[in-house]
Amino acid sequence: MKVLVTGGAGYIGSHACDALLRAGHEVVVLDNLSRGHHAAIEILTRRAPGQLTFVKGDMGDPTSVERAFAGGVDAVMHFAAFANVGESSAEPALYYQNNTAAMVPLIDAIRRHKVQRIVYSSSCSVYGQPAQHLIPLPESAPLAPLSPYGRTKLIGEQMLQDVVEAVAADGVKTALTCLRYFNVAGCEPQGELGEDHNPELHLLPVVLRAAMSDEPKVKLFGTDYLTADGTCVRDYVHVCDIADAHVKAIDRIVPGEVAMLNIGLGRGISNLEIIHAAQKVTGRVIAIESAPRRPGDPARLFANPASANERLGWTPKFTQLEQIVETAWKWFAAHPRGYRA
Ligand SMILES: NC(=O)c1ccc[n+]([C@@H]2O[C@H](COP(=O)([O-])OP(=O)(O)OC[C@H]3O[C@@H](n4cnc5c(N)ncnc54)[C@H](O)[C@@H]3O)[C@@H](O)[C@H]2O)c1
Repeated sequence: MKVLVTGGAGYIGSHACDALLRAGHEVVVLDNLSRGHHAAIEILTRRAPGQLTFVKGDMGDPTSVERAFAGGVDAVMHFAAFANVGESSAEPALYYQNNTAAMVPLIDAIRRHKVQRIVYSSSCSVYGQPAQHLIPLPESAPLAPLSPYGRTKLIGEQMLQDVVEAVAADGVKTALTCLRYFNVAGCEPQGELGEDHNPELHLLPVVLRAAMSDEPKVKLFGTDYLTADGTCVRDYVHVCDIADAHVKAIDRIVPGEVAMLNIGLGRGISNLEIIHAAQKVTGRVIAIESAPRRPGDPARLFANPASANERLGWTPKFTQLEQIVETAWKWFAAHPRGYRA
C-alpha cells in the first residue's frame, strides 16, 4: 500500500514509517519539520531506498497536501500535531490552529481522494481525569479532556469521523482507527531513530537526560498519592509496539468501521519505578527532589487494551520496563544532543 504519514519526521511517526517500510509499504511523509528532524528522514531513506518520498510542507497548506496526495494514497496515518500539555494551556490558539484548523486541508483531501484507511494518533488525554474506579480504563469511559491539547485530540477524532460519514455518502466505506496512546516510551533497539522533543517533558527522557548530567537530579511531582509508593502510576508502551499497532490498523480493517482503541499495556508503573529502572540501566545514582502535585494529574491512569488486542491482533513485545528503558538509554547515551549529535 501507499501510505501518507503526516508528522513522519517526529518521534512516533518516524518509528511508524520504519515499521511500514519493513512491511513493504510505500511511504509519503508530509512534515513541516517544525518539531521533527530531517535526520530521521535520512535514516529511513537510507534503510529503504526509493520507498519513501518526503514532502516538506504544512498540513494546513492545501498545495503541500495536494503534493503529498499526488498519484493517490491507499491509507493516511495522521501523527502531525503539537503535543505539549503545558504549552497548550499557555498558547491555546497555537494548539487549536495547528492541531485542528490545520487539519482542514487534510480532511478535505481525504474526502476528495476517498481514502479508505485512516489511522489517527489520539491520546489518553481525551479522558481527562477519570474516576479511579474506572481503571483499567475502557474506551467507553467519559470523554472529558482537561487541557486544550486533549480537546484538540478529541476534536481531531470527531473531524475524521465526519469525513468518514461524508465519504460513506459517496458509497465508499472508509475504516477509521483512532489509537488512544497512553505513555509512549523507548526507542528502536537499533539505536538510530530516537526521541528528540524540545523541550522534553516526558518522564523517562527527562530522567535519562538527568542521568547524563554531572549531578543527576530529577523532580518528582507528588509523592503523597494513594498509590503503593505515593507517586503517580501510568501505562508505558514501547514506541515500536505503537508502530506495530499502526501497521496492523491498516492491514486488518473492517470497511466502514470507526474504532477508538486504547493503546497501552494495561499495567501501571509508578514514577518512582521509572527512576529506579533508569538508575539500574544507566548505573547512575539519581537524586530525587520532591515537588508538589501538578494540577490535573490523576493518581493512576492505565488502559484496558483488550479491544486493541482483539481487533488488531496486537500483542506488545516490549513488556518489561527495563527493556523499554534500555532501548531509550541506548539512543540517549549515543545522542547527548539529540539528532544534532
Ligand atoms: N509522545 C507521546 O507520548 C504521545 C502520547 C499520546 C499521543 N501522542 C500523539 O502522537 C503524535 C506524535 O507525537 P510525537 O511525540 O511523535 O510528536 P513529535 O513532535 O515528535 O512529532 C510530531 C511531528 O509532526 C510535525 N508537525 C507538527 N505540526 C505540523 C503541521 N502543521 N504540518 C506538518 N507537520 C507538522 C512535527 O514537525 C513533528 O515532526 C501527536 O499527534 C501526539 O498528539 C503522543
